[in-house]
Amino acid sequence: MGYGKGGLYDPSRYYCTLHSGKRVKIMAEPKHLSEISWNDFKKLSLAEKGCFFHGKHTLIAQQFTRDELDALCALATRIKRINKRRDGANFLKGLLRDKRAMLYFAQPSSRTYLSHNAACQILGLDTMDVRDTKTSSEVKGETPEDTIRTFSSYVDMIIMRHPVGGFAERVAWMMSHTKREIPILNAGSGADQHPTQALLDIYTLQRSFEKIGGIDGKHVAFVGDLARGRTVRSLAWMLTLFKDMTLYFIAPESLQIGQDILDLLDEAGTKYVVSEDFAAVMPVADAIYMTRIQDEWDVEGESSTTNAADYHIGAEHMDIIKDTTVILHPLPRRQEISTEIDNDPRAVYWRQMRNGMWIRAALILKTFGRDDEVNTYYDDYKPVS
Ligand code: CP
Repeated sequence: MGYGKGGLYDPSRYYCTLHSGKRVKIMAEPKHLSEISWNDFKKLSLAEKGCFFHGKHTLIAQQFTRDELDALCALATRIKRINKRRDGANFLKGLLRDKRAMLYFAQPSSRTYLSHNAACQILGLDTMDVRDTKTSSEVKGETPEDTIRTFSSYVDMIIMRHPVGGFAERVAWMMSHTKREIPILNAGSGADQHPTQALLDIYTLQRSFEKIGGIDGKHVAFVGDLARGRTVRSLAWMLTLFKDMTLYFIAPESLQIGQDILDLLDEAGTKYVVSEDFAAVMPVADAIYMTRIQDEWDVEGESSTTNAADYHIGAEHMDIIKDTTVILHPLPRRQEISTEIDNDPRAVYWRQMRNGMWIRAALILKTFGRDDEVNTYYDDYKPVS
């Protein structure tokens, strides 16, 4: 097993303090993308890039602060409660009736596409979509950049999933140099980032641990294909914003988490353990985040020697894990979670999926700066949970 350096995260936003006592700057003050050339922007660290997206685009996990996560989670819960009553649902539907969103999904998706679409519907936002680039003028040779610029002529926000890592960042930079800079939400890019999935994972963890001290101090185990899982990469970073966390990365060597993520954890001072031994971690984990072996990305048979049984959870393990442990999965799953545990209260992956709709509604509302209207409505009417 390998251990991270450990340290203390300072929630005062732009610094973390390592156990050595060294303070490391992790994010600069917010800046505008038009202030920097693309070549200079590409050279920045993720933390430095984050300050260019702040409050406008949602592109990487590193752009969020702890305060922002807490506020988004609270807003999601308020939206959910307000939506339970017909008058509340009608109020929500009026909030963004003047806006339109484009759902551009150049890769397959069920949950991310549907939950963003449902979130838009809750807020009254009209949507259009392209779910297969063969149906857009890209087949005539139009560049993806021109395709996005075309979308921006008709809508007020682009929610996009793209196979090319960093393409959403490129689009946001390009839009900042036009007269119509609209927000870009990254719904999954290459194998690198899935920030809105990380938001819904944080929301699920926060709700799951509400009565046992919150997320701070918990032990979170990531299991399976950690090399190609963009959800793990985004969530691992977001968890550095919580105090006294211990992260476990449980995978065969060929599918283990990237050194770049471990370096970020070191920089933020978050403790971690890298191991192949799932059985040893099961009894101590407060949250187990299962992932699918993504063999569609195999180049040199990376997953061919993996024994799937070593990275599986089923009924035989439910006496080993704690009563308060929760099991998450970004889904879709294959055999890594037995369907026989689906109805165990500790299996929260179906709830996690629905949480995606509420946190994405909160994010969209916040992006358009209309969150105060929900907070005022909630304080005035106090809908019951
Ligand atoms: N979790 C996730 O991204 O699922 P989809 O690929 O179905 O959107």
